[in-house]
Amino acid sequence: MRHLPFSNAPADEPARVVAEPSAAGSWHVLGAGSLGTLWACRLARAGLPVHLLLRNAARLQAYREAGGLRLIEDGQASLHCLPATDVAADGPIARLLLACKAYDAQAAIASVAARLAPGAEVILLQNGMGSQQAVAEMLPQARCIYASSTEGAYRPADFQAVFAGQGFTWLGDAGPVGLAEPTALLADLERAGIAHQWTANVHSRLWRKLALNCAINPLTVLYGCRNGGLADHHDEVATLCAELARLLGACGQADAALGLHQEVQRVIQATAANYSSMYQDVEQGRRTEIDYLLGYACQAALERHCEVPHLQALQARLVRALNKP
Ligand SMILES: NC(=O)c1ccc[n+]([C@@H]2O[C@H](COP(=O)([O-])OP(=O)(O)OC[C@H]3O[C@@H](n4cnc5c(N)ncnc54)[C@H](OP(=O)(O)O)[C@@H]3O)[C@@H](O)[C@H]2O)c1
Repeated sequence: MRHLPFSNAPADEPARVVAEPSAAGSWHVLGAGSLGTLWACRLARAGLPVHLLLRNAARLQAYREAGGLRLIEDGQASLHCLPATDVAADGPIARLLLACKAYDAQAAIASVAARLAPGAEVILLQNGMGSQQAVAEMLPQARCIYASSTEGAYRPADFQAVFAGQGFTWLGDAGPVGLAEPTALLADLERAGIAHQWTANVHSRLWRKLALNCAINPLTVLYGCRNGGLADHHDEVATLCAELARLLGACGQADAALGLHQEVQRVIQATAANYSSMYQDVEQGRRTEIDYLLGYACQAALERHCEVPHLQALQARLVRALNKP
């Protein structure tokens, strides 16, 4: 599919990407990486107005040279020429998808915070815990929505995303529950075919995912293996799950601890052939999100005087391994 909403370029010429003034009800996507591209392309394909926000003029120029975003699904690429500006542009933002890594989220949101309309909806896609909370504290005027997603996408090149794993996204309010569901936003996701569910307890989902991640990803880095390789480290995984369950209980998240070890075993089996996201980050020399995953868990344990010696030892081993020249 060639999606040319703002260009009249003939089909045999590269489509021109033209920035349009931001429209009310438009989706703004901050972070045109793997997930940002996956969401932006599906929303635009459904006929919804989507506007990309790129970090600076150089990235905007690179986007223009790329001719748009490419989404690759089942080996088929589609081109989506979405309007884009850099973050320095003006204009109110009513709905924003923050699709940066956890360690970039605060700096990225700071660059557009002044443009957020009162009551603006801001979806935070970051993995782990800590960065979404920090962003929500920076935006008292907005309705921050936490997302926990099992969808998988990776970036083979700039402004391209491969949709690698169908999944599901849970969404819920960051703040105290009590607001009505954001029906217009959820209707857009439905229209775009983004599998999702609104939940009153997204915090529980985030803690559960954090625990799953802590039980699997660091060990795959240390043993240099696919997820399935952890079947050879059954006792170590079981010990970590017991500590993580204790930690979840200490953090008031007992529900998120129910059946944790069984689910970890199930994930290890079901994704045996996959490399974890942390493994892939390390392999490709990219920064990991460890501070928002295992680092966050160990800090939470420390603050609650919850003893998690194996988790702490795991973190120390991982930090040593990541800092090796
Ligand atoms: N990928 C997945 O399958 C997946 C699944 C579930 C959850 N997540 C989570 O989703 C989050 C995003 O992951 P991702 O894989 O999409 O990351 P990614 O491919 O690295 O993309 C991040 C994007 O954020 C942009 N960015 C960073 N700082 C920015 C700034 N100040 N202003 C504007 N843009 C900025 C980067 O821009 P440049 O291109 O200019 O560097 C990059 O395009 C992570 O927390 C990840 O753990 C990912």
